[in-house]
Amino acid sequence: MTSERTFVMVKPDGVQRGLVGRIVQRFEEKGLKIAAGKFMHISPELAQKHYEEHQEKPFFNDLVGFITSGPVFAVVLEGQDAIHISRLLIGKTDPKEAPAGTIRGDYGHVKEKNVIHGSDSLESADREIGLFFKPEEVLEYERSIDAWL
Ligand code: TYD
Ligand code: MG
Repeated sequence: MTSERTFVMVKPDGVQRGLVGRIVQRFEEKGLKIAAGKFMHISPELAQKHYEEHQEKPFFNDLVGFITSGPVFAVVLEGQDAIHISRLLIGKTDPKEAPAGTIRGDYGHVKEKNVIHGSDSLESADREIGLFFKPEEVLEYERSIDAWL
């Protein structure tokens, strides 16, 4: 069994709407383990690095403005296929296309404010975890339930 880590983040709209607890609960209920968590403001510099793959896109400046507009809740999740599973729970980028039962399908309305971010590959997960957390902030610990997942 190989476990992997991913990075998810409740965006400013999710924080303002009081969805942090419900969103984190979905990942916990699925069995993913919380390895790190941080409530924080994102600086423009960090936002630009985090979204650097989109820097040529027309929505880039609005995206950076939005993600820095209020606090976010950043989380590292760990588990088997954590990246794929968390993207499934999150749902498609545009909440109008995300099925009910997914986080974006249940809580989102428009893609510019889609409640949550999740890493899309091993490379982006490693990169994003490194941008948001110091190595010592990502905890290693045993859980007895992991034998049942
Ligand atoms: P993207 O990486 O394509 O989506 P995802 O978050 O599902 O990995 O885009 C990053 C964010 O940029 C997305 O969550 C919302 C925003 N965005 C827009 O504002 N407009 C757009 O047309 C797209 C594609 C994304
Ligand atoms: Mg993406």
